[in-house]
Amino acid sequence: MQIRLDKYLADMGIGTRSQVKQYIKKKQVQVNGAYPKGAEQKVDTEQDLVTYQGRQMVYAAYEYYMFYKPKGCVSAATDSRHKTVLDYFQNQRRKDLFPVGRLDLDTEGMLLITNDGEFAHNLLAPGKHVPKTYYARISGRVTEEDVVCFAKGLDIGEKKLTLPGELKILSGEEAFSEIELTIMEGKFHQVKRMFEAVGKQVVYLKRISMGGVKLDSSLKPGEYRTVTEEELRVLKGCKRK
Ligand code: URA
Repeated sequence: MQIRLDKYLADMGIGTRSQVKQYIKKKQVQVNGAYPKGAEQKVDTEQDLVTYQGRQMVYAAYEYYMFYKPKGCVSAATDSRHKTVLDYFQNQRRKDLFPVGRLDLDTEGMLLITNDGEFAHNLLAPGKHVPKTYYARISGRVTEEDVVCFAKGLDIGEKKLTLPGELKILSGEEAFSEIELTIMEGKFHQVKRMFEAVGKQVVYLKRISMGGVKLDSSLKPGEYRTVTEEELRVLKGCKRK
């Protein structure tokens, strides 16, 4: 890929576009062992050897992170009242990261963070039917009839019924149940609305997997790690489970 030298350096977190222009002027940057003509010089991200203060750069066009979203932060880039998921990524060199989809303020669990728009689109587009699994605590007893209703699809006030959801009852008492639910869509408040449709309320919600990849059990709320090559292959659809 051919890109401008100032973009290359800014993408790699060396500084802002105007800062890196200064570094180029001050001869702190070299391309293939020579001083570049200017910030607008094109570099080949795979072929050209770029150094900054003598350090060799390795260009990564896209980055992918698995984030354990904690409760109380919003899945948006900015918010006037709450912390955002991107506030957890301020140390990252890339400034073009965004969350792949949304989890509610009070929902926790797996959220992918990337700067790859096509990757995000492929996971979120309604026609792709990417599975998302949630663990939830529900007030009231979830029954086998509910399992059947979820499997048929539910009226949550949209034009059509939801797609079938796979509901597993993990434990159920009169006042309180624990479940796992896999759905193939991502409508606004979908899990909460599906339970409301059978007269029950979600009191705790956590996404435990997406696109066949599970939330890493070693992550704590607010922590993240890079998505592995194998996970990326699964998420990109090579081995959708
Ligand atoms: N369904 C919900 O109701 N909330 C979420 O955050 C995710 C799925």
